[in-house]
Amino acid sequence: MEFYFPTRIIINRGSVRENWDKLGSLGKRCLIVTGCNSAKKCGALDDAAYALKKAGVSYEVFSRITQNPRFTDCAEGAKAAVDCKADFILGIGGGSPLDAGKAIAWLAANPGSDEQQMYSQTLKNKPLPFAAIGTTAGTGSEVTQVAVITGTDGRKKSIRSEFIFPVIAFGDPAYTSFMPEHVTRSTAVDALSHCIESYFNKASTAFSEIYALCGARIITEILSQKLSDFSVTEQQRDMLYLASVFGGMAISVTGTCIPHALSYFLTENHGVAHGNACAFWLPFFIQYNQKYAPERAGKFFDGIRMKADEFVLLVENTAQHIDITVSADELEMLRPRWKNNGSILKALGRTDNEYIENLLKKSLLKEEKE
Ligand SMILES: [Fe+2]
Repeated sequence: MEFYFPTRIIINRGSVRENWDKLGSLGKRCLIVTGCNSAKKCGALDDAAYALKKAGVSYEVFSRITQNPRFTDCAEGAKAAVDCKADFILGIGGGSPLDAGKAIAWLAANPGSDEQQMYSQTLKNKPLPFAAIGTTAGTGSEVTQVAVITGTDGRKKSIRSEFIFPVIAFGDPAYTSFMPEHVTRSTAVDALSHCIESYFNKASTAFSEIYALCGARIITEILSQKLSDFSVTEQQRDMLYLASVFGGMAISVTGTCIPHALSYFLTENHGVAHGNACAFWLPFFIQYNQKYAPERAGKFFDGIRMKADEFVLLVENTAQHIDITVSADELEMLRPRWKNNGSILKALGRTDNEYIENLLKKSLLKEEKE
């Protein structure tokens, strides 16, 4: 059993301004990587600017990261980092800017490198130090060694390397109160998916189980108070943020499992938000584990003090309802993705192609659904 976690994580309202000196220790020049406007809107960009100025760090802002960040944007960001001679990268945001920031930190240390080298992790130099400020309560990216980047082929693919763990991460749950309700919901079910997929996972250890169970219990407890009114208090936001970090720490050990693996094409081809796309598969994943890992499922539901059917109802009430049908052609084109898929192979029951394809047909194929 091994637990490697090199990120200093500071979770506190006001944490970025209070800890300005910690950013100053990373270098003299910084490239901030953000999305188009959420970092500004929630106040995180202003807090970062305050902290960097106070620490005597000059910075530039690269704010062109869109949802489901693309390799081409990361390559542009890396060029901006090289041009401003950045010593380190500071990502601010939810999963997209944080994942892009990790890729930019790696590409900037290896000018001229291409997409294939990034995905195959054959880049020669280690990445620049990467710092993260989390502004949503879902991704957990601020505490993982994973970045999901969409390649030029339009496919979301993960890079996973201990070199891209953030060296420092700040969590200020106040930022999350600027999210619209639908984002609060989809990020909460994303964090919940991380916990569950980590718990029911061949790679799980005593360390990851503790984080996964604790995260799932916090999220389900809060969501079950939200069935009729979804207003979230400050204290609940603090707890949801903490739970998302626990989810991140759990998947930093195990990686994700079937729901994430089957979610990516729903986002790429059908525009479903990441959390909702994962949540779509959770009712199946619960049944699956009740069948193939009944003891573990029992332990899980005892641990979160909830019955399996209550849990499924909670997910369905929180996530956006998805009614998508796919054609036989689309399923055929997707087929190579399920073959030897690392995340699927970590599941505790059947993982063969036939089983996964039948699941997809039953869930999404027009003729089968009717
Ligand atoms: Fe996720």
